[in-house]
Amino acid sequence: MKNIAVIPGSFDPITLGHLDIIKRSAVLFDVVHVSVLNNASKQGFFTIEERIEMISEAVKDIPNVEVEYFQGLLVDYCNKVGAKQIVRGLRAVSDFEYEMQLTSMNKKLDDDLETLYMMTNNQYSFISSSMTKDVAKYGGDVSSIVPPNVELALKQKYAEINRRP
Ligand code: PNS
Repeated sequence: MKNIAVIPGSFDPITLGHLDIIKRSAVLFDVVHVSVLNNASKQGFFTIEERIEMISEAVKDIPNVEVEYFQGLLVDYCNKVGAKQIVRGLRAVSDFEYEMQLTSMNKKLDDDLETLYMMTNNQYSFISSSMTKDVAKYGGDVSSIVPPNVELALKQKYAEINRRP
């Protein structure tokens, strides 16, 4: 039986911190689903398709990683793809409270699912998608915090936004 894990998130956009967790998880599990939440009530900066394209490009050399989106409850999605584990990255103590709520709720919804936390590599512990967007918005250098394709996509997106009347 294959050991399948899901790494869920907004990935708006994927950062090197996410990528680090994905790469390390791919060593531990037979299959890793990187799953983007398609939240109908919250419009993201990048579209779901753009996010999936960026993640797919960033993980193209890792054969056991699959990239897709999900809607609705995470526990239902995990059962659909046959995953028994959810993997989340933990950066700092400030992440803990939210992550504890998430894990407790998922455990209440499905007691068979386990959530495993992986400490983010020190060099990425300060990175967040929202801060990355903020830096890119004002022309700051994000080359050391996102993959090259994401850096380009951020530049293009802000150029497009700035061209709007
Ligand atoms: O990257 P994020 O935004 O911290 O990821 C949050 C995510 C996608 C893991 C979480 O919002 C989620 O699982 N949403 C799906 C809806 C759900 O299952 N809710 C119940 C548990 S909170």
